[in-house]
Amino acid sequence: MVRFTTRLAPAAGLVALLSCPTVAQAASSNVVVDGTSFALNGENVSYRFHVDNSTGDLISDHFGGIVTGDIPADIVSSINGWVGEPGRVRREFPDQGRGDFRTPAIRVRQTDGYTVSDLQYQSHTVIQGKPELPGLPATFGTGDDVTTLTVRLYDNYSSVAADLSYSIFSKYDAVVRSVNVTNMGKGNITVEALASMSVDFPFEDLDMITLSGDWAREAHPQRRKVQYGTQGVGSSAGYSSHLHNPFLALVDPATTESSGEAWGFSLVYTGSFSVDVEKGSQGFTRALLGLNPNQLSWSLGPGESLTSPECVSVYSNNGIGGMSRMFHRLYRNHLIKSKFATSDRPPLLNSWEGLSFNYNASTIVDLAQESADLGIKLFVLDDGWFGVKYPRDDDNAGLGDWTPNPAKFPHGLASPVDQITGLQAANTSTDLRFGIWVEPEMVNPNSTLYHEHPDWAMHAGSYPRTLQRNQLVLNVALPEVQDFIIDFMTKLLNSADISYIKWDNNRGIHEMPSPSTDHKYMLGMYRVFDTLTTRFPNVLWEGCGSGGGRFDAGVLQYFPQIWASDDTDAMERITIQLGTSLVYPPSAMGAHLSAVPNQQTGRTLPISFRGHVAMMGGSFGLELDPADMPADDKAALPGLIKLAEKVNPLILKGDLYRLSLPEDSNWPAVLFISENGSQAVLFYFQTAPRINNSIPRVRFQGLDSAAMYKVEGKGVYSGATLMNMGLQFPFDTDVGSIVVFLEKE
Ligand code: GLA
Repeated sequence: MVRFTTRLAPAAGLVALLSCPTVAQAASSNVVVDGTSFALNGENVSYRFHVDNSTGDLISDHFGGIVTGDIPADIVSSINGWVGEPGRVRREFPDQGRGDFRTPAIRVRQTDGYTVSDLQYQSHTVIQGKPELPGLPATFGTGDDVTTLTVRLYDNYSSVAADLSYSIFSKYDAVVRSVNVTNMGKGNITVEALASMSVDFPFEDLDMITLSGDWAREAHPQRRKVQYGTQGVGSSAGYSSHLHNPFLALVDPATTESSGEAWGFSLVYTGSFSVDVEKGSQGFTRALLGLNPNQLSWSLGPGESLTSPECVSVYSNNGIGGMSRMFHRLYRNHLIKSKFATSDRPPLLNSWEGLSFNYNASTIVDLAQESADLGIKLFVLDDGWFGVKYPRDDDNAGLGDWTPNPAKFPHGLASPVDQITGLQAANTSTDLRFGIWVEPEMVNPNSTLYHEHPDWAMHAGSYPRTLQRNQLVLNVALPEVQDFIIDFMTKLLNSADISYIKWDNNRGIHEMPSPSTDHKYMLGMYRVFDTLTTRFPNVLWEGCGSGGGRFDAGVLQYFPQIWASDDTDAMERITIQLGTSLVYPPSAMGAHLSAVPNQQTGRTLPISFRGHVAMMGGSFGLELDPADMPADDKAALPGLIKLAEKVNPLILKGDLYRLSLPEDSNWPAVLFISENGSQAVLFYFQTAPRINNSIPRVRFQGLDSAAMYKVEGKGVYSGATLMNMGLQFPFDTDVGSIVVFLEKE
């Protein structure tokens, strides 16, 4: 039994180092400390661990549904064979050596070369609130929202300290962890591996869910059984990447969208990362998320520290959907700093798919006029507006030279932008806003910047600098590169009435000069993001990485929305957007209605279908030239834009229920319910014709059983009827879509 009323005996040899916590020291009921047993209590989650009194190791007790009072201690199997005791217990922060052969959370190469560690409990503190993470994005909250426990571990042999931070957001059943490693010794050490969090589950049988894909095929959910040995995903691209998202869910094999236990883990980080899941010989399942050890090798001199990014863990007993809603609420309220987090996302028109690089001041003013006539409220000028000596007329030149191309803009940007912002959206008194595309971290060799600063481009000695989309990556780890970006962005934003920035990033990093450059780049990039978004808080910032190549919680700290994919085919987008919604709030997704045949897939879908899918993203837009549209399609746009504006508050602030998934059903369905439950909107799709088949039912979720709901076009039904029996919506076209509003009576 793990006693929760008496203090455990301290580890031998540590008496002098132990603090003397008492129950009275517990700062709130969200963190309760009894001796050296720790309990983090959320509304529906308990997270418990304690110090092993003989080894000083931190032992996991429980992460899941509520447990109270004393809890039974794990009975450890007797030691037979090669696995030592540390390999037979569930550990909070596994270090290397001493018989735990599973993946460690930390590996430090000491001054004299050893990589064995012996991190033992030394002390702890509890505070209301949550300190910022130095130089890194992080969830935030007041003392009413969050309580933070920090446990110091110390290795007497290497003089390395590890401060484990646990913040509990009790309303969100979320435990946020990070670790700070300090070299307290006299020589240099190297941190070779550092996970932000590690947890050992006592269960043999779990499924893992990750989000994988590639360019234009992001965020496809993959569910598989956790097998013996290690399995996982990660990025070594220098960015979170299209290939795998820094996210993991572990679920009971019986868990569905709407029922069962689910644990979600999301790394608040944008660089290379590692997600490892390991079922060990004893049957426990370990999950670790953190910096990618292949690209770390972080040197610490005496007194220096390395702070890991943080990892958000949420627990749900309401299935995968419940897990997602916890992430969405937490991220909307306690991660995204922008004032636009949950409001004011004007319907926009982006020039990329419509005009590509082919425009000038006069044609964009015309396009903006046409956009305004349709009801658009934000005109976004995408790639192609810059470059003097090396004009950006295609993707072969210009990146790095952020001066308007005089051939396209003979009078600079301010004058056409004034004309555009002088327009008004049809039938409103709303002035059109203007936004612009940039890709600040990149450089084309065909640019003045590259000729002046070839050393600013990422390179490894004399190895060839590999081009990708004809461009190289600037080394944002260098302070002079950070300052260059901050300066030109400040000048650009001050040069014209610009209220929106699309910040793109169109390649991974190939020739990293050293492993630690990866994380140094991120620290530099976060400095740039933080400086600019603080300096220009009224700008609506959109992140982008060749589509969803940089859709992560780190970017969301600064930018409230991210372009979800360069694949604008609405059918594909259902999968991509619902996959992305496993962890990220729909408010954060940029989604556009584009022309047909679709540029990526060649598919033609009805205009309403394309519009309905796009309006499930928080930032709805058009990505086309209306002048090239069939008359019927064009005539449908004003109505779709109005509808997008009507549903938008529910998308930005509401709770999302994935009623049926495109991978399981020909009829995917999504419900958004407003925060106070008074309104809801259903999106329902038929993705292929089905002949001579009974008409399926949409069964709702998340409604109030006892309340009555007026369902647009259908009548009034109780929440119980809608959830348990459902409604039928026949389609008379081969593919079709409907949007239906519900009002609680
Ligand atoms: C990337 C983006 C697109 C567009 C182009 C411009 O691919 O994802 O939306 O901005 O770059 O070059």
